[in-house]
Amino acid sequence: MEQDDTKLQFDPKGKLRHLLSLKGLDAALLTELLDDAETFLTAPGALAARHGSLAGRTIGNLFFEPSTRTRASFDLAGRRLGADVLNLDVNTSSRKKGESILDTIYTLEAMQVDVMVVRDAGSGVPAYIARHVKDHICVLNAGESDVSHPTQGLLDLLTIRQHNPDFKNLSVAIVGDIQHSRVAMSASEALQTMGIGELRLISPPALAPDADRFPGARIIDNIIDGFKDADVVMALRIQRERIGNLDGVPGIDEYFANYGVSRESMKLAKPDAIVMHPGPMNRGIEIEGALADGPSSVITTQVTNGVAVRMAVLDRIGKMMSTR
Ligand code: CP
Repeated sequence: MEQDDTKLQFDPKGKLRHLLSLKGLDAALLTELLDDAETFLTAPGALAARHGSLAGRTIGNLFFEPSTRTRASFDLAGRRLGADVLNLDVNTSSRKKGESILDTIYTLEAMQVDVMVVRDAGSGVPAYIARHVKDHICVLNAGESDVSHPTQGLLDLLTIRQHNPDFKNLSVAIVGDIQHSRVAMSASEALQTMGIGELRLISPPALAPDADRFPGARIIDNIIDGFKDADVVMALRIQRERIGNLDGVPGIDEYFANYGVSRESMKLAKPDAIVMHPGPMNRGIEIEGALADGPSSVITTQVTNGVAVRMAVLDRIGKMMSTR
């Protein structure tokens, strides 16, 4: 994310127009988005929150990589705010016939799609689209290579805040394939902006990140140091689709024994520590199934928060559009 791309996120009045990254969003704006998201949460079994801030608008979901949670929650979030939602089926779209991504975007623009929600394996794709769309179009990053997943970062931040809002005194441990994880990047950006007490990034050496991508974080190669007295432990999936060469990456049994988040390894963390995972999970590899389904797990809460956070982002964009 270039400096110019950070500025690109805001309109001339300083309002959020595109959400490409959590870089450049200050603590006040992150807090407002989380507060807004809280207003969209309702009790299980109650009617889902609804609002008309996107009535008459159209959202295009363009997922050029697989997704369950992000795509479904942007779809629900848009509909619950009154928008029409177009889910482009990439596998049967004309991109398979060689159409460029910009020609796809221009085609949807011509159909009056106002908000493009984009997931792509290529680094820089959301910003590239944002630089090429017409002035009234908004672009939301729904997962960009190993670079950024800003709405995931927001939902993770909200989930941690619900556990304990005292960010300055929290230790958050993220364990797994940090090197290829956009989830770790966006969580790290959000937590650092909120002044997190300690951020630990734990992985086997073969999956360790470049330290300069995670300023202020502790890079650790073992869970003994990594989980000790942690308030939050977040497990990550090994991103096989982004790993060219598996040399040095432990096999499944060795990985689970040394880096798995389990009832046993969680004994190192604080007794009330929460367990997070962005999904999709590989049970028995990075996380023990019984722990994922147990009382310390907030994994389904993350999913619920994902809809609320995406509603908060879309609601803000909708209100910005209506005041232009
Ligand atoms: N966490 C996340 O991005 O999940 P999906 O790939 O299912 O959207």
